Amino acid sequence: TPLANIRNFSIIAHIDHGKSTLADRLIQETGGLTAREMSEQLLDNMDIERERGITIKAQTVRLHYTAQDGETYQLNLMDTPGHVDFAYEVSRSLAACEGALLVVDAAQGVEAQTLANVYQSIEHDHEIVPVINKVDLPAADVEKVRQEIEDIVGLPADDAVLTSAKTGLGIADVLEAVVARIPPPKGDADAPLKAMLVDSWYDPYLGVVILVRIVEGTLKKGQQVKFMQTGETHLIDRVGCFTPKRIEMTELNVGEIGFITAQIKEVAQTRVGDTITSAKNGTAAPLPGFKEVQPVVFCGMFPIDAADFEKLRDSLGKLRLNDASFQWEAESSAALGFGFRCGFLGLLHLEIIQERLTREYDLDLITTAPSVVYKVHMTNGELRELHNPADMPDPAHVAHMEEPWIEAVIYVPDDYLGSILKLCQDRRGIQKNLTYVGGRAQITYELPLNEVVFDFYDRLKSISRGYASFDYHQIGYREGDLVKMNILVNAEPVDALSMVVHRSVAESRGRGLCERLKDLIPRHLFKIPIQAAIGGKVIARETISAMRKDVTAKCYGGDISRKKKLLEKQKKGKAKMRQYGNVDIPQEAFIAALRMG
Ligand code: GTP
Repeated sequence: TPLANIRNFSIIAHIDHGKSTLADRLIQETGGLTAREMSEQLLDNMDIERERGITIKAQTVRLHYTAQDGETYQLNLMDTPGHVDFAYEVSRSLAACEGALLVVDAAQGVEAQTLANVYQSIEHDHEIVPVINKVDLPAADVEKVRQEIEDIVGLPADDAVLTSAKTGLGIADVLEAVVARIPPPKGDADAPLKAMLVDSWYDPYLGVVILVRIVEGTLKKGQQVKFMQTGETHLIDRVGCFTPKRIEMTELNVGEIGFITAQIKEVAQTRVGDTITSAKNGTAAPLPGFKEVQPVVFCGMFPIDAADFEKLRDSLGKLRLNDASFQWEAESSAALGFGFRCGFLGLLHLEIIQERLTREYDLDLITTAPSVVYKVHMTNGELRELHNPADMPDPAHVAHMEEPWIEAVIYVPDDYLGSILKLCQDRRGIQKNLTYVGGRAQITYELPLNEVVFDFYDRLKSISRGYASFDYHQIGYREGDLVKMNILVNAEPVDALSMVVHRSVAESRGRGLCERLKDLIPRHLFKIPIQAAIGGKVIARETISAMRKDVTAKCYGGDISRKKKLLEKQKKGKAKMRQYGNVDIPQEAFIAALRMG
């Protein structure tokens, strides 16, 4: 296909505004699948997902559309994830497109989650086409939504496309708008091959499938190519696209998006953002924007039942097959026994993995306090990397410590500016810049990463009712007055809850943590003191009072089966607890306790 007849775009939408329904309609309208095939296709994917516990990631589809001008266009519709933990992956997907459809529900109007995506899309110089969907609803108010798009998003909305993805109204208009308003890709067909590795996933039949955008040159089946970051060469054995059916072809040309396979076994061998070139006479200049994806949050994961250790190792291995950004190695803990030290892109990523281990692999786990990587300069000149607060050396031998910092850019409507500034200030932030763009402020802050990884994003969203957007990158290490804080439950230190904190915030963090633990740990038959301490010095304390009655007391010896049920329930509850000394701590307590109030 000539460049002039290619359009690469994504869909930006707030949850439930109709992104999937619209995408399905576009596929149907352009004949990618018949209505019957469509329901079969969806069923197929769900079956495989259910059976194998894997996610089908072929979300980028190629549509062929014959426009009113008589020309046939190749439209590549790309799906993108939407969380700050995966900001880099999103940025590569956006870099592969020239435009986006911004879908807004005609009855709901502009909502917050949309904004962060729109700003990112604008940063990539995308042409954005507003689409007002669900105009069939009685509550639809097109004029109001138009105004909101202009005021809140800052995009002209006179020529917004009106659709009902449900009834099919306006779908042809969307396709015409894509062709007319989104620019075609640029690139030199005769230059040496440059393809961007946009995404990759593991397919049980094909091995690793790689989604690419051809920036220059041509990529052919049977070609020997080089992945510039890893330096590895591979023979391309399949080239194609999804319509969404998998279609195999002989080549991908400049400007196109498609997939390749090359007998690659692990996703870890592919780096998102890498440049693929020909092995012979390739380019010397890789595409800009590549970043090594490094885990920034580490925590320990331990099976509650020690017998599950091997099962946990297998499950982590399986997850890693499809998620190269997640790392793990074996570790052992005095209190928790054998487990694994795991690295994640952020707290959401951690929670996704934890959830999958629990739900799909049926494992009961203890997750220890998440931590960033500190640099510890010892008095003897040695430099140690600290991934685990439990390994903190004796402060007497520590000369000084360094912690990672980030630069964060936050967009927020004026109304919430004050509370956002306070949040950043409370997290030891240093304000670098504050400017106004339309009705919203753009704030740049430097922040210590350890103040951000746990719950900063959630706090930001809740303070701003979802209207703030947040993006960050690391800016290196800085010296900090850091101390290890221990948590003692019934006078026993709980190593899974110990953490490294800045001295200036230790007391308030300690107090908050003790208060939350007080609510998270159930009452026992005795009084339980909960303390936060630095070295031997207690800086905060709470007490859980003793429980009087046992659970079955309420039954008054009545219905015996009910009593048995209660006991069973209690036993099940126990299975998800961890014993420290003679205190049972529920599994949720370990992560929940870290959500700062
Ligand atoms: P997520 O996948 O959860 O992010 O949502 P989404 O944005 O993909 O929305 P989805 O397409 O799943 O649509 C959400 C709901 O709105 C579904 O129940 C759709 O049937 C409905 N819907 C989508 N488009 C229209 C429309 O034009 N009119 C009406 N009345 N309902 C619609």
